[in-house]
Amino acid sequence: MRKELIAGNWKMNKTCQQTRQYFEEMLPGIDCEGRDVVICPTYLSLKDAVEATAKTNVKIGAQNMHYEESGAFTGEVSAEMLKEAGVQFVIIGHSERRTYYAETNESVNKKVKKALLSELTPIVCVGENLDQRQKGETFDFVREQIEKSLEGINDERLVVAYEPIWAIGTGVTATSEQAEEVCEFIRGVLGEKCKENSEKIRILYGGSVNASNIKELMSCKDIDGVLVGGASLKSDFVKIVNYE
Ligand code: 13P
Repeated sequence: MRKELIAGNWKMNKTCQQTRQYFEEMLPGIDCEGRDVVICPTYLSLKDAVEATAKTNVKIGAQNMHYEESGAFTGEVSAEMLKEAGVQFVIIGHSERRTYYAETNESVNKKVKKALLSELTPIVCVGENLDQRQKGETFDFVREQIEKSLEGINDERLVVAYEPIWAIGTGVTATSEQAEEVCEFIRGVLGEKCKENSEKIRILYGGSVNASNIKELMSCKDIDGVLVGGASLKSDFVKIVNYE
């Protein structure tokens, strides 16, 4: 009942020219019948990406946005600007933004509300670090992130991405059991907050996803898709999207 969603987060990679080249090379190989495929390039490459994918089923997302409509916020981009550029999704609260740019559950909450109002689909990221996992704090920490980041929000369009920080960019993927355990827990927390919508909200796993582990991850009951970093920059992404 939940449509699978395979998203690529390019982070700070690829120029506009490299963006156009990427789509030229990979679009012919993508078969996304029945699956949502979303690519999130940098702000600067968004227009090229939207143009390149215009006649395809591939959708484009941003990696962040501001919650205000406009104003004196140097270096920021609003939801309205993203909409006008043809963007349909937006990643909010990625752990790199929380760590390097002091994003909090409170700012994430404002952004998610604004994204939904603006008809952008938010992909809200949560996940513990290695220290928290080793101390057995994963569930408490993820619960707090969900409760605070999604306070006052009950919307079936939401997408939640579980990205354990220790699995991001490390080549250490969570086992499918570890990933499913937390994704199932997240659905339970969403059930308390969002009632019946929790069965419609898509939950993604992210952290060293590649062409070899995608199938097993996707076989888990509460994993509806993946958020791919490094492997989304390469031709490997076609294999991930087309996994069978
Ligand atoms: P990697 O796939 O490179 O581990 O990155 C995951 C991620 O942060 C996606 O948002």
